[in-house]
Amino acid sequence: IATLPMEKGWLASHLHQYQGFWHITRQLQGVLSCQKHFNALHSDILIVTSPKSGTTWLKAWTFALLNRKKYPKMFQNHPLLTENPHSLVPFLELDFYKDKDLVPDLSMISSPRLFSTHLPYVSLPKSVMNTYCKIVYLCRNPKDAFISLWHFTNKLKTEGTCANSLEDSFEKFCNGVSLCGPFWDHVLGYWKKSLEQSEKIIFMRYEEMKKNPSTVLKELARFIGCPFSKEEEDEGVVDDILKLCSFKNLSNLEVNKKGKLPSGEEHRAFFRCGEIGDSKNYLTAEMIEQLDAITEKKLAQHGLRF
Ligand code: A3P
Repeated sequence: IATLPMEKGWLASHLHQYQGFWHITRQLQGVLSCQKHFNALHSDILIVTSPKSGTTWLKAWTFALLNRKKYPKMFQNHPLLTENPHSLVPFLELDFYKDKDLVPDLSMISSPRLFSTHLPYVSLPKSVMNTYCKIVYLCRNPKDAFISLWHFTNKLKTEGTCANSLEDSFEKFCNGVSLCGPFWDHVLGYWKKSLEQSEKIIFMRYEEMKKNPSTVLKELARFIGCPFSKEEEDEGVVDDILKLCSFKNLSNLEVNKKGKLPSGEEHRAFFRCGEIGDSKNYLTAEMIEQLDAITEKKLAQHGLRF
């Protein structure tokens, strides 16, 4: 494990490189613990993302899909109206396994259990690959993911630390030094596996969720084993889920405007603008060119383009 002291208060912490990827201190503890203790079940569903790729949105979608029979009156008493998606679908390494001395008992969670993680493919607990557990991977174009991450980490800076400049963060991101980075390696690990094992891993894109929401939602529903029936489609359930989980709806809920996660992040930090291409309002032409060139070099040969 290599450690890189971040002089400018990167989440007021250090970044540690483990199995080729960078983690903040409190995350690394959880990574090690869940690698050791997490036992996946065949029926589990695991949401995986690189940070700021749309995790919150995907958590809301998947939770709403799995629980739609339980809460048919979606705009009256649905848990997504009163709880943040991260509380409903906690992270393995940041929530369940964050405590070094406490191994959580997950056996009481009803099936199918829904978890999330930012773990890169190489760091997944063995049982995830040794079972029929399904993986839903969501990626986002690196320019928007980077800008979103830059805003997020600056929001989280604690007293006594200063903000990370855009230039500084950009250089680090390009060199692979970012939360759960290198970004491209994270994406590539899951992309390659999704080509080999399409039954096990679905590879989704934030941009597709934005452009063709109902098509992607239906595809996700089929993949996780709860496809929409004809009656549901006729009754407008697809549209209801999309509306419930929309940026406009979620970001305007009281719980997401005011609350905080147990780990300290404010709920509203997960809702900024939710658009494709906002990065062009921040990056210079040279920065865009540089990021595009890295993406092309690292991903195009594997058939992956943004
Ligand atoms: P921006 O910072 O570009 O606005 P994550 O959930 O992985 O932390 O990613 C956060 C990003 O997803 C933020 O992007 C956030 O605004 C966006 N987001 C959150 N909820 C969303 C939703 N319901 N629809 C679309 N984008 C959403």
